[in-house]
Amino acid sequence: MSILSRLALVAGMTAMLSSTALAAGLTVGFSQIGSESGWRAAETSVTKMEAEKRGIDLKFADAQQKQENQIKAIRGFIAQGVDAILVAPVVATGWDAVLGEAKDAKIPVILLDRGVDAAEDLYLTSVASDQVEEGRVAGRFLVDSVKDKDCKVVELQGTVGSTPAINRKKGFEEAIAGKANISIVRSQTGDFTRAKGKEVMEGFIKAESGGKDICAVYAHNDDMAVGAIQAIKDAGLKPGSDILVVSIDAVPDIFSAMAAGEANATVELTPNMAGPAFDALEAYLKDGKAPEKFIITESKLYTPADNPQGEYEARKGLGY
Ligand code: AHR
Repeated sequence: MSILSRLALVAGMTAMLSSTALAAGLTVGFSQIGSESGWRAAETSVTKMEAEKRGIDLKFADAQQKQENQIKAIRGFIAQGVDAILVAPVVATGWDAVLGEAKDAKIPVILLDRGVDAAEDLYLTSVASDQVEEGRVAGRFLVDSVKDKDCKVVELQGTVGSTPAINRKKGFEEAIAGKANISIVRSQTGDFTRAKGKEVMEGFIKAESGGKDICAVYAHNDDMAVGAIQAIKDAGLKPGSDILVVSIDAVPDIFSAMAAGEANATVELTPNMAGPAFDALEAYLKDGKAPEKFIITESKLYTPADNPQGEYEARKGLGY
């Protein structure tokens, strides 16, 4: 081995050791929304695994979908003097006071997977997808699929006031704008859950001549789509052909539905928000360099042409 490659190896090992050593001493609080969807469960598992891998002591708090519980948890983390706080904010508004308290205590806050309507200097960085783009990707898929055919769409929105619900709606509407043959005829929240997705879809089907007038369902996440698929089947219709099913997340169950011909497209949202978040935090604590304000994850479209059975096999058991 040449001297240069030896030096490179030593430098690499030193960098690895110092970042592991740095991470190893950290205590990080994580205020999670809850476990409303398969995607959310996977994000929780991945965050715990990433923390363990890096020797980070992760304090986990499940807010059971309530912002007040998240605020309480964040105040608890501040009182404990944690080194940093991760928060997946259930809704966009109402964060100024508690984020200000974290800032006053000099505790960096990192937002995971959802945004907030608050001054950008109240958090270190935000790791999330471009949610408007996710909606556009889903909408463009539908535009390409139906071509000039008339298409009445029903929409299952995510949690009211959350950034994915707001932005995924916006992006989808942008993609179908100008297409006179495609219109959203009904839109209601299913709160990102399978049970609510099914219940709301049942109402849509009843209201639209037993479902015969519906061409597609656009769900802001896969869990609601899976619930909608059940409602479509219960109504004696075929999901995937009588009613197209388009959603977001790329969880194993939607690939299973796709393999059975019952779902048409999903837009991937990686559950690994913690990896980039911890990388940014460690770099910041090491040399004080602030990371990019927005770390954007990819939004890849998957359709039945993308080996859904293989995707199901590859993803099941990953914490979903
Ligand atoms: O914020 C991300 C969204 O929240 C996911 O798409 C959804 O499944 C989750 O509950």
